[in-house]
Amino acid sequence: MYKFLCLFALVALPIVWIQADCNVCQSNGASCINQTAYNLCFGGSEPNTNQTFICTDGLVCTDQPVICFQRSENPASCGDTDSCGQCAPNYTFACTSLNTFAFCFGALTPTNVTGSCPDGFFCDGSTQEICVTKTTDDSIICHKN
Ligand SMILES: *[C@@H]1O[C@H](CO)[C@@H](O)[C@H](O)[C@H]1NC(C)=O
Ligand SMILES: *[C@@H]1O[C@H](CO)[C@@H](O)[C@H](O)[C@H]1NC(C)=O
Ligand SMILES: *[C@@H]1O[C@H](CO)[C@@H](O)[C@H](O)[C@H]1NC(C)=O
Ligand SMILES: *[C@@H]1O[C@H](CO)[C@@H](O)[C@H](O)[C@H]1NC(C)=O
Repeated sequence: MYKFLCLFALVALPIVWIQADCNVCQSNGASCINQTAYNLCFGGSEPNTNQTFICTDGLVCTDQPVICFQRSENPASCGDTDSCGQCAPNYTFACTSLNTFAFCFGALTPTNVTGSCPDGFFCDGSTQEICVTKTTDDSIICHKN
């Protein structure tokens, strides 16, 4: 049983590790500028800003090995903070960072009753589950650490 759990943890960790910073070199050698554009690090710790690459349509910049990945599978590494602290659409809760949330209890602004997602989950304002492991096309994610 323990053996199985360890194996599971080893396999699951790299998949669920999500970064939420712009302009940092990630493990995949790319540094996301915003949701869809990135620079390369060429093995260094600083992004080379002389060349900018743009993900093709429908893909976002992620920390996955392929860099640009389907938004419906993985949140972008950085970019959109507009939805942070927004109680809409259902005024139940708002995401306050990638993995924290605050309840709204019907109000327009979040209350100080807050919580955080379990390891490997992130907050998605578009779902009643609050914390999820996979994004959808409708995901409302707060790109803040
Ligand atoms: C992301 O940055 C690129 C390069 O600076 C820019 O061309 C693009 O419009 C930006 N995209 C968004 C969604 O801000
Ligand atoms: C970026 O381009 C400038 C001008 O071509 C060059 O001087 C500089 O060394 C380049 N920087 C990097 C990190 O490649
Ligand atoms: C939340 O705010 C209320 C009113 O401002 C205060 O009485 C309460 O102690 C706060 N609760 C926490 C957990 O900070
Ligand atoms: C919002 O409410 C509608 C209708 O009650 C429901 O279908 C939907 O899942 C809710 N969305 C969230 C984010 O809770």
